[in-house]
Amino acid sequence: MFTDKNILLVISGGIAAYKSLALIRLIKKAGGRVSCILTKGGEQFVTPLSVAALSEAPVYTDLFSLKDETEMGHIRLAREADAIVVAPASANMIARLAGGFAQDLASTCLLAADSPIMIAPAMNPVMWNNPAVQDNISTLKRRGMHIMPPASGDMACGETGEGRLPEAEDLFAEIERFFFAPKPLNGKHALVTAGPTYEPIDPVRFIGNHSSGKQGYAIAHALRQAGATVTLISGPTALQTPHGVKRIDIQSAEDMLSAAESALPADIAICSAAVADWTPVHIADSKIKKQASGEIPALNLRENPDILKTLANHKKRPRIVIGFAAETNDLIANAQAKIKKKNCDYICANDVSGAQVFGAEDNHVHLISARGVTEWPRMSKDGVAQKITDLIIEELG
Ligand code: CTP
Repeated sequence: MFTDKNILLVISGGIAAYKSLALIRLIKKAGGRVSCILTKGGEQFVTPLSVAALSEAPVYTDLFSLKDETEMGHIRLAREADAIVVAPASANMIARLAGGFAQDLASTCLLAADSPIMIAPAMNPVMWNNPAVQDNISTLKRRGMHIMPPASGDMACGETGEGRLPEAEDLFAEIERFFFAPKPLNGKHALVTAGPTYEPIDPVRFIGNHSSGKQGYAIAHALRQAGATVTLISGPTALQTPHGVKRIDIQSAEDMLSAAESALPADIAICSAAVADWTPVHIADSKIKKQASGEIPALNLRENPDILKTLANHKKRPRIVIGFAAETNDLIANAQAKIKKKNCDYICANDVSGAQVFGAEDNHVHLISARGVTEWPRMSKDGVAQKITDLIIEELG
């Protein structure tokens, strides 16, 4: 798996930096190449000479080194890597990454990288549990970096708890699994609709809704993590594009439909968007003004195209088509009727009669298909996304 793969290993400061030396040996033994960046902190624990000797390659330490820049250049160093591993990742390194700093060679390379990145934090247990560190870790996760959780045990500082860098063999296995093991949805294309649609009334007004897009973005992220190629067709949201996902921004239902049809063929379609059911018949060219007479303008509406229904009845129909339904009453019966009406395979039905769903962090879903109903316990939207992904893996496997 490692043959001819180029791993960029960033070694930041920490007593555990010695484990990265053993990691270099394991990667080399497996046929991989390792380029190393040693931060100033890292240099306090392992020497450039030992890293160079083990990796059989030059070690890069300095952003403004004339020698390093002419030999490789920090952009090329980042780009030529098939995978980037930061081990150990100190609290400071993690903060620099989360903050987007480019103050040394390591942080600059990581900022310029477009390869997948794995972070292996190592620090004192109290530091690890500090909200500042945990917030930074959440930020990195959200940006698609893979975090290998630290191990528990006795620390060099004499304390016990979570924060140890895993052993070199465990780091190696995680790298193998995360970067190079075939993923269950490799080669599959998934189409996900998310967020609201905005239906224009005039140049300044629209009909919209409160959809945050969180559930759809979480699904796009989970499918990508499982190896699928993901096209996310999104109405206006405040969310960041999940790492590795192709996002197409649209405003209206018409735009969403044409983007979805253009993205076919797909193996999977998940329609989580809150598409406006109706759109104004005419869009005024200029802002509609208040009438001196006080007359209130009438808004003539027509029905929008149904994207879920169109995809589920398309000649290029994806193998699995999943919709969502927000219901205030008769949840199961209404969702079952929707499956028939729209010809989709599954509906994730939400009961929106009581709890907040729009913008909330969690979701209570009943998964409905022609075969029956499964109630999932209330869980995070990431959890729901994972359940849907597992279901797809099972169906396509
Ligand atoms: N949907 C769609 N295009 C539309 C309307 C809905 O793709 N024009 C999709 C949604 O993304 C969701 C599912 O259809 O996956 C259910 O949407 P919902 O609005 O609940 O269903 P409706 O068909 O609008 O039925 P009703 O308004 O009667 O609940």
